[in-house]
Amino acid sequence: MNRPSASWAGRHVLVSAGPTYEDIDPVRFIGNRSSGKMGFAIAAAAARRGATVTLVAGPVHLPTPEGVRRIDVRSAAQMHAAVLAQLPATIYFGAAAVADFTPATVTADKLKKRAGQDTMTLELVRTEDILADVARHHARPTRVVGFAAETGELDGYARDKLQRKHVDLICANRVGVAGSGFEADDNTLVVHGHGIERTLGPASKAAVADALLDLVEQEFADVP
Ligand code: C5P
Repeated sequence: MNRPSASWAGRHVLVSAGPTYEDIDPVRFIGNRSSGKMGFAIAAAAARRGATVTLVAGPVHLPTPEGVRRIDVRSAAQMHAAVLAQLPATIYFGAAAVADFTPATVTADKLKKRAGQDTMTLELVRTEDILADVARHHARPTRVVGFAAETGELDGYARDKLQRKHVDLICANRVGVAGSGFEADDNTLVVHGHGIERTLGPASKAAVADALLDLVEQEFADVP
């Protein structure tokens, strides 16, 4: 569909996609419903435009897009290490649904319920914020793009994230509605940047990925 473009050739595009799984014990984990489709579509679209693409993928059931180098990870900590190890990059798309909290300890043996036990408490600790760490890294990509999956108050949260995480664009998608967000094949993204607000879609995630790359190309044509 897309032609290799001079502005993408030779650029390193780093993408994170999919959920993370945070292990509780050898058989249980905390995960989420991210399918990885949006991030995989962005990686595929960037490769079609001639970029050198690295895709750091959480546990997903998706084939590796053509021409894309893929690194599989499981947990937020592994994704954090893998993403930072792949810098420098010209642009980072943080499309993964990274766990915000992870169990304080992973037990070596399967947790057992005791007779008469009606409740159990799991202690969780914060994970490191990959997007924020990429954005303040000494090898910060020229452009850092984050995502915001929200069930409500979409734009306010996206604008807040833009400032707080020092990123260039935040792509907000609504989850929990038909035809958008997690697991769906289609998506609508509301893209917020400094002086930018654009709605992409509703369309297939492949078409939305292409529209996002077009927007990045137009808005950041001056990027060295
Ligand atoms: O603040 P919130 O987690 O909703 O922000 C979502 C954005 O931050 C996404 O781009 C996601 O990939 C990124 N993120 C991250 N590391 C975390 C949590 C979120 O990179 N630990």
